[in-house]
Amino acid sequence: MAPAEPNALPFRQKGDVPVFPEERPGWGGYIEWEEYPEKKKKAAEILKQYDFPVPPEYQFEPMPKTNPMLEGVRWKQYHYAMGPTLKDLPDISWKYVQKEKSPDMIHVLQFPYNGEPPRERLVETEITRNSDHFVRNHGGIPEIDPEKYFLDIGGLVNNPKRITLKELQDESIFPRQTSTVTLQCSGTRRIEQIRQYPGDGDELINAPWGEGAIATARWTGVSLKKVLKYCGGLKEDGKHLEFYGADTYFKKGQVSNYVVSVPARKVKVNEVLLAWEMNGEPLPHIHGYPLRVVVMGYIGARSCKWLYKIKAIPHESDGVVQKKEYLYYTPQIGKHNANYSNGFSIQTMPVSSAIMTPLDQEQIIHDGKIRMRGWAYSGSGWPVRVEVSGDGGSIWYEVPFENMSTKYFHAWRTWWIDLPVDAEGWLEACVRCWDDALNTQPTYVRSAWNWDLHVTSSCHRVRIYSINKSKPATARRLKQVEEAGISLIPITHPLEIDLETDEEYNAVMEKRKWRDPVE
Ligand code: MTE
Repeated sequence: MAPAEPNALPFRQKGDVPVFPEERPGWGGYIEWEEYPEKKKKAAEILKQYDFPVPPEYQFEPMPKTNPMLEGVRWKQYHYAMGPTLKDLPDISWKYVQKEKSPDMIHVLQFPYNGEPPRERLVETEITRNSDHFVRNHGGIPEIDPEKYFLDIGGLVNNPKRITLKELQDESIFPRQTSTVTLQCSGTRRIEQIRQYPGDGDELINAPWGEGAIATARWTGVSLKKVLKYCGGLKEDGKHLEFYGADTYFKKGQVSNYVVSVPARKVKVNEVLLAWEMNGEPLPHIHGYPLRVVVMGYIGARSCKWLYKIKAIPHESDGVVQKKEYLYYTPQIGKHNANYSNGFSIQTMPVSSAIMTPLDQEQIIHDGKIRMRGWAYSGSGWPVRVEVSGDGGSIWYEVPFENMSTKYFHAWRTWWIDLPVDAEGWLEACVRCWDDALNTQPTYVRSAWNWDLHVTSSCHRVRIYSINKSKPATARRLKQVEEAGISLIPITHPLEIDLETDEEYNAVMEKRKWRDPVE
């Protein structure tokens, strides 16, 4: 077996350099696989020659403190092995990260790029800045000239069509729609599941996300319903819509394009948008330029980026991403008995929420109230009530409705609360959301742990160290440290002053009648 990634040997081409030419002029990094089974076969033969490095162990071992946390050497080497059309994509993708994303992003995985913004910033605004919107890629970023762009719509539609971007943007043909929509990756908060019980170590590293693989944008485009109407509508057995993304996806030695599907029902209720604008700006390359799908309320995986084809089909997609990924297993299922068919497909996202500040293990000096901020989301409805507890979930305080952001059918609500906290020392704060259908969240991570480590929707918990300065003893200690010009935080640093003077000690012990019983 090849060594694990940090010790991986440099890539060495085996045999002749393969050539899988670009499919179209003006489209860089796009190989069409789905139309050509013989090309897929050739790629599989090439991949078979290599002993690719195994992903690093980061579940049983401590998570690296580097940024990027994980590199994705194996995935880079898959791309190198495919020859000139894909070999530069790891570098090109990283260039887009630097150009389009905030400099302080947490790079969870360098390639394919997976990144989330610093926690406290994510909930500063109800609409996420483009530069702070999380990114979840499975491959390289194709570079597509918008002038050369077109979208094919076929399969079980009455009049298959090829539509250019200009036509899609022509308001005399298609009414334009702008919707506020939250995208959430089903891996959000995966780190909590990993910390408790390690799970699947997928060949495409199951990114150890924190609470930031969720974001909200105002997406502008055209409803897929209108586009299907323009194509004469669906044929009778056209029950699902399959979306094709131009990037290359690798799974167990096979290649494909990124292909997923949604039921036609979702399109009919106007919950699927073909978007070219994000918050009033052209879609960034990293988010699917020039055109992507935005599916409201569903797992982010269905919102296909770099969209080049839509096909109406009778059943859900047979593509690997739809069939073999994003599956939710019961806790009894694992490496020993998992099949693709005994997991269920994650579509509508459940109710979830997170505390973004304070951070886990933060030490907070306060006067009886701690300011908390976070997000709450429900894929099948909208957050109605958010409750926060300072004692691990016995007593819950409702977030005042005035402190919750705008209600949208398909978006999160950010919230804040000044949580009453009397107690001191280590406390566990947690949050839960209730949506409009009275759905709420499982209590503990274990209640919903699953082998593929998806959808961590249990109440989010942070450990905080409470230093309540309204308590006389604490006020005294704070005064002592202030006078000594030192800090109480971090609490683990030795205190450089004595706790009390001998006189003070003796005076108290006198009152306590010393330590031992009288007889
Ligand atoms: N579309 C393509 N073509 N390739 C991808 O890797 N990732 C999906 C989805 N669409 C993906 C894709 C996943 S898993 C998520 S969560 C969302 O894109 C993330 O969208 P974002 O990167 O714009 O935030």
